[in-house]
This record gives sequence, C-alpha cells and structure tokens, in this order.
Amino acid sequence: MSQLSVTRAAQSRIHLVDFDKLGFGPVFSDHMFCMDYADGAWGPPAVVPYGPVPIAPGVASLHYGQMVFDGLKAFWGADGNVRVFRPEANARRLEDSCARLCIPPMPREMFMEAIRQLVALDHAWIPRQPGQSLYIRPLIIGAEEHLDVRPSSRYRFFMITAPVGSYFKNTAAGVSLHVEHEYTRAAPGGLGFAKTAANYAAALFPTTKSRREGADQVLWLDGAEHRFVEEVGAMNIFFKIGGQVLTPPLEGTILPGVTRDSVITLLADKELAVQQRRLAIDEVVQAFREGKVEEVFGAGTAAVVSPVRQMTYRGETLAIRGTVPGPLTSALYDEITGIQSGRLPDRHGWNMLVPVPAQQARPLSRAR
Ligand code: COI
Repeated sequence: MSQLSVTRAAQSRIHLVDFDKLGFGPVFSDHMFCMDYADGAWGPPAVVPYGPVPIAPGVASLHYGQMVFDGLKAFWGADGNVRVFRPEANARRLEDSCARLCIPPMPREMFMEAIRQLVALDHAWIPRQPGQSLYIRPLIIGAEEHLDVRPSSRYRFFMITAPVGSYFKNTAAGVSLHVEHEYTRAAPGGLGFAKTAANYAAALFPTTKSRREGADQVLWLDGAEHRFVEEVGAMNIFFKIGGQVLTPPLEGTILPGVTRDSVITLLADKELAVQQRRLAIDEVVQAFREGKVEEVFGAGTAAVVSPVRQMTYRGETLAIRGTVPGPLTSALYDEITGIQSGRLPDRHGWNMLVPVPAQQARPLSRAR
C-alpha cells in the first residue's frame, strides 16, 4: 500500500467552536482522510485539510445512490487516553454495506490506519464533557461520470470527523416514537441492513411528517405487512416486557447496530439473554395496555442508549408507566459510556487506543 501523505491545515478552526454548545454534526474538525479507487486498486491515502471537494455533476453516485457510510466515535478517557469504540465492527459492517452496493471494500488495515491518523492529528477536537465525543464518519461514493445504471469503476473514500454532543436534544426526558404503518423504510431483499443513503432518504418524508405531528422519531414496521417491529432508523429498538428484554432479529431489513450488539453482549454478561425474535406491533400494544412494558430504549452510535417515553400507533398513545429512563436503560448507558471512557474495564477488548502527543494527553481540569 502506498505511503500516507499528510497536508496540515494552514490554520486551525478550533477556536471558532463553542464546545459547551455542541449539537450533532454541524461542526467538522480540521482534517479529513481521502483515498481514491481506480484501475482496480485503492490508493494513495492522504490526510488533507477538511473542505469542499470538486465533484462533477455527472458522477453516478449523485444520480443512483451508489454510496455507503458508517459511524463510530472517539473519546477522551478520564485517564487521559483516547479510545475509539469497536472500530473493527464498523469496518466489517462497512465491508458488508460495500458488498451490497457493488463497491470494492477498502483494505481493513487502511481503514484502521485512517482512524488512527485522523484522530491523532485532530485529537484537540475530541470534546471532553460527559456525553460528548468525536464522531467519525467514513463514506465511499461511486465517482465515475456516467448515466448508465451500473456500478462505478471509480470510487472516492472520505473519512471526516465531527465533535458532537448528544443526538437528541433532551435524551434524559425520553424520545417519542410514531409507529409508521403506511410508509416503509426497507423491504425483504432490499438495502435495510446496509448503511447507505437510500435508507435514510426513504425515512425523510415520513419522519418530517411525524415530527410535525409531535413525535421525535419513526418506529418502522416490516415492509411486507406493516406488522412486525423493525428499527428506528437512527437506532435499533429494545423492549423490556414482563422482565424479558426483546429486540427484532437481524433478518436483512434492519441495520446490524454495533451498539445493538454491545447491549446484547453486556446483558448476556449479566446472564440476561435478549430474545431476538419477530415482535408483532399488536403484541407490543397489548403489553402496553396491560401495563407490562417496563422500558423501551434505542441503541445506536449517535443515540448511544436512549430511553423512549412513549409511542403512538394508529392514534393510540402508549406511554411508559415507570420512570424514564428506566433502571436497565440507565445501567446500559452507564456501562457503555463507562467502557468508552475507560472508567470501566473493557472486558471484551472493544476499545482501540490511539496514541496522542503526551503534552496533550492530560485530562483537562475543566471543560473548555
Ligand atoms: C449513527 O448512529 O452512527 C448513525 O449513522 C445514525 C445517524 C442517524 C446519525
């Protein structure tokens, strides 16, 4: 693989950022990683200042959506170490998304190196307050100019990073979900398991409509019958009903979330097996009516573990009766963020440590 070249930004923009008021994603750090694919090979890799890239309007991905992306996070630890959470899992998922979209996967080691280089170079951009992180967004787009509907012969890989706070404005109060029984996010045999723009584009209209009607997010049902619970788009969904934790299975229509997998693993550690099975919305509604729904929460990289306070289905409001967030939701949030920040032992070897210059590695005594 060819040598990585690094071109530093002439001037950092970090002084323009108010780290006390981070939202999710409007601010990007100083640098990005870029690599092209042509003539059957990826390379050469480069880190360059973050900024616009020239793109021809004839590039096929702009027309036919041949693109994939992923999302992962880097954290400052209380011990002054920088950790990236489960990058191998994201690399694998990106490879699976690539396969579905006919995109040549990038070499795994180059993906990991891109993360290390970018996070090390822009380590000052990793926010330090609880609930904050540096979100890492790799993406690959078909870059050949043509109007024929076929896979591109050229690709561009980017990795950009963004200092972020929590995804939802008031996570602790709980998210409200509109259970969508008309529109569909994904169908069997479609793209649902791939992290690709089309799934998010399909969600825009129904989500905007639901927001106007007062919900924060859409809970998708299966595309074939609108009968079974699938996911929320920004996160996978978990229910605790009558003492049992349930989540829909990975059958190709929902995103195989890394946080979903982490939740299942952490619960298995406590000998609490999560039932991964098809869950009819009627069963959920009945359980709500009978007061058996103890907790509902979403799990995702951006969302972490976010409590759900209520759902609406065909005009009926289904509210959690207990406290929001519930005890299991809070415990899982604390455990995952504890592992990510190094406060708790990393039993499963999930974190990748990124060495950063020693003089910068001390934890700040106060938030910036
Ligand atoms: C993520 O959690 O990484 C996502 O890509 C979800 C998106 C809604 C921000």
